[in-house]
Amino acid sequence: MDKVVAIGCDHAGYSLKRVLCAFLQEQGYALIDVGTDGAEQSVDYGDYAHRVAEHVQSGKAGWGVLVCGSGLGMCMAANRHRGVRAACCHDVVAARYARLHNNANVLTLGERLVGVEVAKACLQEFLRGSFEGGRHMRRIEGIET
Ligand code: RB5
Repeated sequence: MDKVVAIGCDHAGYSLKRVLCAFLQEQGYALIDVGTDGAEQSVDYGDYAHRVAEHVQSGKAGWGVLVCGSGLGMCMAANRHRGVRAACCHDVVAARYARLHNNANVLTLGERLVGVEVAKACLQEFLRGSFEGGRHMRRIEGIET
């Protein structure tokens, strides 16, 4: 499960999603790609965020990656799922802390806001990171309502 990534995007995140899919496959990750499958048709980000979040929530995937124009709508939608902790990160330091302190299990990215190389670096940092635990465990438990 740790080598399984559920990935999704809307039309505004399709190009970056394709790059990230190739990047993940090169590193030996198995992908569950929930769509969307092109940039031409305008779609609603929530539909894809919920699919990815459900895969993470059920344990079918260890990690989720979501790409839209800003990364924000995807993040909001994914975080409606209990046990899903989605973080919108546009630099590697945020991606590092998302794992280290927040035990994030979904990374969201905005294709319109971040370059391809930075996006790949964020994803790498996110997947390589590990949760520090300790006092942060109590804090992430406090996120749930
Ligand atoms: C689509 O135009 C855009 O609103 C969406 O991709 C995302 O940025 C929303 O948060």
